[in-house]
Amino acid sequence: MARKIVVIGTGYVGLPLAIMLARSGHQVIGVDIEENIVDAINQGVLYLAEEKIRQIFAEPRVRKNLHAQKTPCEADAFIISVPTPLDEQKRIADLSQVVSGVESILPYLRRGNLVVIESTVPPLTLRGLVRSMVEKTALKAGKDIFLCHCPERILPGDVFDEIVNNDRIIGGMDSRASEMAKEIYGSFVKGKLYITDDVTAEFCKLMENTYRDVNIALANEFAAVAEGLGVDIMEAIGLANRHPRVDILKPGIGTGGHCIPIDPWFIKEIDPVNSRLIHAARFINDEVPGKIATKVRRALKDIRNPKIVALGITYKPDTYDVRNSPALKIIDLLREDGYAVKAYDPWVKKYQYPSIEEIAKKADCLLVLVEHKLIKEELARNKTEIEQAMRHPIIMRFYQD
Ligand SMILES: NC(=O)c1ccc[n+]([C@@H]2O[C@H](COP(=O)([O-])OP(=O)(O)OC[C@H]3O[C@@H](n4cnc5c(N)ncnc54)[C@H](O)[C@@H]3O)[C@@H](O)[C@H]2O)c1
Repeated sequence: MARKIVVIGTGYVGLPLAIMLARSGHQVIGVDIEENIVDAINQGVLYLAEEKIRQIFAEPRVRKNLHAQKTPCEADAFIISVPTPLDEQKRIADLSQVVSGVESILPYLRRGNLVVIESTVPPLTLRGLVRSMVEKTALKAGKDIFLCHCPERILPGDVFDEIVNNDRIIGGMDSRASEMAKEIYGSFVKGKLYITDDVTAEFCKLMENTYRDVNIALANEFAAVAEGLGVDIMEAIGLANRHPRVDILKPGIGTGGHCIPIDPWFIKEIDPVNSRLIHAARFINDEVPGKIATKVRRALKDIRNPKIVALGITYKPDTYDVRNSPALKIIDLLREDGYAVKAYDPWVKKYQYPSIEEIAKKADCLLVLVEHKLIKEELARNKTEIEQAMRHPIIMRFYQD
């Protein structure tokens, strides 16, 4: 059944969601505090650099059903997908944008509405903070208003496939909330929809990203030990993974993005005593960019005023997302030490150049931070020309497959 749905926050998560809901026939109002985002949506301009989503965004049905504005309005359902960054000082979730998002819908809430939080939040946020705010309206949660947490798992760079095909968790505070949310998400999700309660859903999302963070930290720790032993870590991991029940991840230059370096802190916030491993993993991964910068300094110690060209600035390969990118941290650390560092990334407009050969002219070091497929291919294709263009052909790469 077609519903009127307000999506609060039309960023990486909210906009693809709004587009898919509109495509499924719902009347969708995307609400964002940023005027340029609202205008872009209404003018049919998509700022997400993803071809499949771009095509769907241009479909007549989506253009007809999706409208954007700066303030909410009455609807059947409200979905909140605003940022939940880390309070860097206290290392706890900064829920100020969730608070303002929920506050903004209070005047428009009516009996029978569904309110979904898609933003990643610490456990107990829905039944604590969100419930208390909603009940200020005199509407009772579970009786008049239905609350649900539906965490998102999409990967920037592959949003369309993931938003449609990933399994999802629907965490209603009561069964009616879950059923209402299931009907809405079921209109475009082909993956399975698993119903649970809100606290389990909140915790699951955090466990997923913490699992990745801790396992990456283990790989990074193995890499540091291997270096001391003079062992090739990639060969060692390849051999260890021949064990039928071992699957060690790849070490890297640090973790980035909007989720992995942040979400584990939300578990620590709720239960510090039982989060010692999680806490240690955070520090191990955060230390890696500094260690990489040290390796670069060592490699260039005999060159006066070396010129460095960093290849890849996103938080992982084959995406345009630069949020919390460890590559950018490494570049900043080197620049703070006075090194001249130019950055190139074929995925990010501001950092595009005609070719690696062009930007590598007279450089002393090519620092390959993010191995995008495009970068790997270009390096393989033009290695000789690139090396000839450089003053010193030092090419530093980390943990290649
Ligand atoms: N990006 C991802 O890959 C990803 C994946 C899974 C989960 N998440 C989670 O989803 C949530 C949203 O993340 P995102 O990546 O979409 O963030 P984003 O920064 O891309 O977009 C959020 C949007 O919300 C808007 N906004 C902020 N406060 C608002 C308010 N009060 N009213 C209306 N609009 C408001 C901002 O202007 C922005 O456009 C976060 O909790 C994040 O942790 C993100």
